[in-house]
Amino acid sequence: MKILIIGGTGAMGSPLTKYLSEDKDNSVYIVSRHEHFSRESNVFYIRGNIKSDAFFHELIRKRYDVVVDFIIWPPKVLRKRLKHIYANCGQYITMGTSSEYAPVDGLITEETPRLYDAYSTEERRQGGRYHIKKSKDDDLIMASEGGNWTIIRPWVTYNARKNPLVTVPLSVWMWRYLHGRTIVLPQQVMDKKCSLTYGGDAARAIGKMVGNPKAYGQIVNIASNKWMTWAEAVETYQQVLYELRGEVMKLYLLPDASLIWRDIPSQYDPIARDRFYDRCFSTAKLNELCGEEFVFGDLKECLKMSLEKTLNDPTVTLGSPSPAYQGVMDRLTGEHTPLSMFKRSERDAYKTALSPTKSWAKRVYRTLKGTDLHMHGEQDEASPLPEQEERGEEGENG
Ligand SMILES: NC(=O)c1ccc[n+]([C@@H]2O[C@H](COP(=O)([O-])OP(=O)(O)OC[C@H]3O[C@@H](n4cnc5c(N)ncnc54)[C@H](OP(=O)(O)O)[C@@H]3O)[C@@H](O)[C@H]2O)c1
Repeated sequence: MKILIIGGTGAMGSPLTKYLSEDKDNSVYIVSRHEHFSRESNVFYIRGNIKSDAFFHELIRKRYDVVVDFIIWPPKVLRKRLKHIYANCGQYITMGTSSEYAPVDGLITEETPRLYDAYSTEERRQGGRYHIKKSKDDDLIMASEGGNWTIIRPWVTYNARKNPLVTVPLSVWMWRYLHGRTIVLPQQVMDKKCSLTYGGDAARAIGKMVGNPKAYGQIVNIASNKWMTWAEAVETYQQVLYELRGEVMKLYLLPDASLIWRDIPSQYDPIARDRFYDRCFSTAKLNELCGEEFVFGDLKECLKMSLEKTLNDPTVTLGSPSPAYQGVMDRLTGEHTPLSMFKRSERDAYKTALSPTKSWAKRVYRTLKGTDLHMHGEQDEASPLPEQEERGEEGENG
C-alpha cells in the first residue's frame, strides 16, 4: 500500500511508521515541518507545513491508498480539504479525541454522548476550545460523502517526547524532577480512574485499521483497558523514575486544583471536563474491527521503556524551565529557581508568576470566563478565550 502519514513523527505517528514499514510491500510517506532522515528503504520523509494550501495540494494529488492524519484542523479548513483528500485516497483515517465524551458511570463506548452534543449554540461558538474543535471536525467527517473515513479517538497517549502527568507537560514536570523541585498535581483527580496508553500500543491499533474495510465509516476509541487511579499511575511514575535514576520524584498534591490551574488556564479546561471523572474505556469495538482481542501493554513496563528513552535520547529536548509554569509551582511549593536559569526575556514571566500582579490575575480571570468555570468568588462577565491560551492545551493533553 502507498500510505501518507500527515504528522507522522509524533507520539503515535513515529511508532505507526515503524509498524507499517515492517511490511516491505508498504511505501510510507511522512509529513512534518522538520527535517528527518530515513533509515528504511520504504520510508520517505517530506518536509512542509500541511496548513499551507500550495503544499497540501501538491502533496495530496500524488494519490495514496490510505491517508492517516494526525493534524488538529480548524473545522473551516477541514471542510475545504476533505473533498481533495477523498478524491485522492482509498481510506482517510483521522484523529478525534476520547476526551470529547461526557462523564458516564461505567465504561465509555463509541456510543457515549459527547459533551458537545449537550452544548448550547453559545457554547458551541467557543470554537477554539480543543474538544469543541475536535467534535466539529468529527461531525464534518461523519456528514461527508465520497470517501471511506475512519475516526480514531485516542485518550491520553504517551511516548518519550510527550508524556503529560495529569495535564502537566513532560517538559515542565521532568525539568522539575531533574532539578530536584517538587511537582504540583491536583489532589482532586487522585481517586479518579485513568487509561494511560502507550504510543506504541496506540500505533499498533491504528495500524490494524489501515486498509481494513471493516473500519470504513467507523469511529473507534483507542485507550488502554488497563485502567487505574491517578494515584496508582503517579506512584508508577515515581517507582519507574526511582529505578532509572535513584532519585525520588517529589510531589505536592494540591487540595484545590483551581489554586494552580486558574493561573495556567490552558490546563484548567481538560482537568475540569475530563480528568475530574473516571475514564475507563470499552475495547469491544476495537477488538471487533481488529478481528481479535487487542492486548495493551502494562503501564509500568511501557512507562519504563518510554522514560528511559526520554532520559537517554539526546534528541529528546526537555525544553527550557517554562518560566510561567515554574513560577506558579515555585510559589505553591515555596521553592525558588535562580533567575540565571532563564533567558533574559523570560525572567519577567517567572517573577510575575511567582508573585502575580493585578494585570496577570485579570488576564487569567478573563481567560477562565470563556470556559464556563469560575475562579473562586468571581462571577460572570463573559469574554472570549484568547487564541494563544487555547492552543496550549492541544499539544499534550489529548
Ligand atoms: N497524544 C494524545 O494523547 C492524543 C489524545 C487524543 C487525541 N490526540 C489527537 O492525535 C493527534 C496528534 O497525534 P500525536 O499526539 O501522535 O501527535 P504529536 O505527538 O502532537 O505530533 C504531531 C505531529 O504533527 C506534525 N505537525 C504538526 N503540525 C504540522 C503542520 N502544520 N504541518 C506538518 N506537520 C505538522 C508534527 O511534526 P512537526 O512538529 O515536525 O511538524 C508531528 O509529527 C491530534 O489530532 C490530537 O488531537 C492525541
